[in-house]
Amino acid sequence: MKYFLILSLIFALVPALSACGQPAQEQTDSGQETLPDTSSGNPEEAIAEDSASENTRAADTEKNPGGFDFETKTVLLNSGYEMPVMGLGTYSLSDEDCYNSVTALLEAGGRLIDTAYMYHNEAAVGRAVRDSGIPREEIFVITKLYPNQFSEPEAAIDLAMKALDIEYIDMMLLHHPGEGDVEAYHAMEQAVADGKIRSIGLSNWYVEELEEFLPQVTITPALVQNEIHPYYQENDVIPYIQELGITVQGWYPFGGRGYTAELLGDETISAIAEAHEATSAQVILRWNLQKGVAVIPGSSSPEHIRENLDLFGFTLTEEEMSQINGLDRREKHDWY
Ligand SMILES: NC(=O)c1ccc[n+]([C@@H]2O[C@H](COP(=O)([O-])OP(=O)(O)OC[C@H]3O[C@@H](n4cnc5c(N)ncnc54)[C@H](OP(=O)(O)O)[C@@H]3O)[C@@H](O)[C@H]2O)c1
Repeated sequence: MKYFLILSLIFALVPALSACGQPAQEQTDSGQETLPDTSSGNPEEAIAEDSASENTRAADTEKNPGGFDFETKTVLLNSGYEMPVMGLGTYSLSDEDCYNSVTALLEAGGRLIDTAYMYHNEAAVGRAVRDSGIPREEIFVITKLYPNQFSEPEAAIDLAMKALDIEYIDMMLLHHPGEGDVEAYHAMEQAVADGKIRSIGLSNWYVEELEEFLPQVTITPALVQNEIHPYYQENDVIPYIQELGITVQGWYPFGGRGYTAELLGDETISAIAEAHEATSAQVILRWNLQKGVAVIPGSSSPEHIRENLDLFGFTLTEEEMSQINGLDRREKHDWY
């Protein structure tokens, strides 16, 4: 009787023990798989299927190197927040012009605005955002700390919070490398922990600067914003940054004021624009997006602002992309 009881206990325990040893996906409520699919019954086939899907992902990365979502017109940053891939730059826009341009952008459906302490227009940006009546979380505002603020970064962050007055800052960048930049970045990391800033990044950091900087910080930058246009393409820098999982954003997409006529009138770009019944400005912005570069063209014209948001009705062919890639002159239009 004693032996019978022990045997019954063993038989009762065996199925329960083997259930604990099942692959995790058979125990989840959600039905999500956590192991490779071996439904074919052949593990080698499962591995081959897996590497085929890796190849598809690699091909996608080639076609869409920034991982942009062309449906939602956003990119998922490494910080976990979504950022629109096109918006408005506000450099050189003074108070009223800035307010009107941001208002025009928001009315036209744009949701990304780039400002900086150095542009002296954070207050106008904040006022336009508040007056728009659009829910705060739908708008993405980038601002920057200037190197002359790096010695007292906590005060500089609070100054930006106060000037913008929009509850939190979506993205703060260090505007340029400079003395005290690592300490300033650490202060931004603390501001992320405190809920003042959601994502942080850098501007005018190239390969060498990034190699030196990144080992000294804890939060990987979510964004690097650099000069990028068809005459200054940074073809060596962009993939380096993207491979680090950092989103790239270009400034001076039209070459910057004083250079726009030459770039917008470029024969190659104009011919491509004609073929798509688009404008040269739209072709340049679309070329950026297809390279995985987010864009923030500057404009004080509501008509241009609307035009610069209308980038999703056409796709540049690989041939057209290579034609524009061929225009690179490594010609920087500013000193930094
Ligand atoms: N991180 C940095 O160090 C840094 C440096 C420079 C700039 N940025 C940022 O990058 C943004 C872009 O640079 P940017 O504004 O100086 O130069 P940009 O975008 O290359 O060019 C702006 C010029 O293009 C014209 N424009 C805009 N849309 C147009 C269109 N559809 N057709 C024809 N012309 C058009 C504008 O004139 P209208 O006003 O007439 O439209 C303006 O004169 C800045 O606003 C700033 O936010 C950052």
